[in-house]
Amino acid sequence: MRIGSSLPIGLTHRLAGLGCGLLLTAASFAHGGGVADYRHHNMEAIGGHMEAVVDILKQKVPHQAHMALHANAIADLAGIADTLFVEGSQGGGALPAIWEQPEAFAERLQAFQDAAAGFRQAAKAGGDIGAAVQALGQACKGCHDDFVEE
Ligand code: HEC
Repeated sequence: MRIGSSLPIGLTHRLAGLGCGLLLTAASFAHGGGVADYRHHNMEAIGGHMEAVVDILKQKVPHQAHMALHANAIADLAGIADTLFVEGSQGGGALPAIWEQPEAFAERLQAFQDAAAGFRQAAKAGGDIGAAVQALGQACKGCHDDFVEE
């Protein structure tokens, strides 16, 4: 094995690979693909927190103490949701109606942010968490019914 000569070559290849990856990323960003993927990943994160919340509410796990963490995460993610629907980022499960009816869509986003803030507050202050989560679920559904592909 000629470590002396194989190492630099391996490194060169890796750097070339890295460069390629960055170029690909830049290209898909320019076509909206990266933005749509990023939106989807954020939505999946919201979905994951929501499922964890339901697990706790159903007492599948004894992690009542995690409730505020999930509520905070959902409220934080709701806070950036309006930045995820850039013009030209159509794709994934996002229906064209999002960009065709921007006012109706903005209302659903606002309802989501309000409900997420309500849940955050309930989890923090020991309010009615069940009711807050139900309201939040309605806000998810309110948007998904009209703006997300089945
Ligand atoms: C204002 C609109 C809106 C609200 C409110 C909203 N979503 Fe979504 N959601 C979307 C859109 C649009 C997509 C599709 C995104 C994509 O694929 O690019 C999506 C996708 C998802 C996905 C990925 C799987 C799928 O159905 O495509 C999950 C999981 C999800 N949302 C969960 C939630 C949960 C849980 C809530 C509430 C806590 C919520 N969403 C609130 C618009 C919304």
